[in-house]
Amino acid sequence: MNAQPLLEVRDLHLSVRAPNGNRAPVLRGVDLSLARGQVLGLVGESGGGKTMVGKAILGVLPDGARVERGSILFDGKDVLAMPGSARRMLSGKSMSMILQNPMTALNPVMRIEDQITDVLRLHMRMDKAAARERALEMLDAVQIRDPRRVLRQYPHELSGGMCQRVVIAIAFACNPALIVADEPTTALDVTVQHQVLRLIRDLQMKSQTCVLFVTHDLGVVAKVCDAVSVIFAGRIIESGPVREVFEAPRHRYTRALLEAAPRYDRPETALHPISPALREELTQEIVHTYRIPGHAV
Ligand SMILES: Nc1ncnc2c1ncn2[C@@H]1O[C@H](COP(=O)(O)OP(=O)(O)O)[C@@H](O)[C@H]1O
Ligand SMILES: [Mg+2]
Repeated sequence: MNAQPLLEVRDLHLSVRAPNGNRAPVLRGVDLSLARGQVLGLVGESGGGKTMVGKAILGVLPDGARVERGSILFDGKDVLAMPGSARRMLSGKSMSMILQNPMTALNPVMRIEDQITDVLRLHMRMDKAAARERALEMLDAVQIRDPRRVLRQYPHELSGGMCQRVVIAIAFACNPALIVADEPTTALDVTVQHQVLRLIRDLQMKSQTCVLFVTHDLGVVAKVCDAVSVIFAGRIIESGPVREVFEAPRHRYTRALLEAAPRYDRPETALHPISPALREELTQEIVHTYRIPGHAV
């Protein structure tokens, strides 16, 4: 057993270009550690920087976004220091992603078969027959009935839940070391959400793939994650094993987040929305404490 974490993000600062041309910080020294075989939940409210963290790890930052400082160690090597070609190879083969909307992840004018086999032929160097076999095996693993028929279909012929299963099949197909799942069930119906979460968890446990699970939903974290990091204003404010953080949150924002979340096990519990005053106070504290000299806050 290798005790070194698979992924370590250290002091990651990232900025974007604001409409007025200035650089605006989005991540303010993010630290994350993802142990092998683990699912780490990255949880926080909208705008906290969760998606940017995922994009920085995968090396797919939007135009205008720039890493200012910090490192992203994957298997001990800083991916930010790698040449572009090595980075792209790593991101394609060892990492994959599952996004919120399966319809944007899939190509609308390609049959499901080609979408899965293209990835296998490129990254696993499989021939056509082997790739098709593996595609069938993966569709079966994501519990798609009649996989032969689905291989011939186009995304628009499938439901949202089915499409997300295909995306999950593609994400796991090359046995990546890390999967970044960014709100993978948020766009799905509630009943389907539950099935898809269980599916991701089952596949992850079988393959021992590491998953960085990005979500705004603490209920989802409780269901699928081993550890959790809470992000606010581009800063991780609390991290730990899920049970510990849920039972004894140390940070007042984590406590507020827990009080604001519906309890699936105790639906009668009253909800306390996070107060705008707490949000404002924390934002000010973080914005002024963790800044890069010479940059706007
Ligand atoms: N493409 C972009 N260009 C400029 N700013 C962006 C872009 N994407 C996100 N941001 C900004 O970065 C911050 C964090 O966004 P994001 O990572 O999407 O948060 P989350 O996923 O937690 O909701 C937000 O303030 C958002 O406005
Ligand atoms: Mg997001």
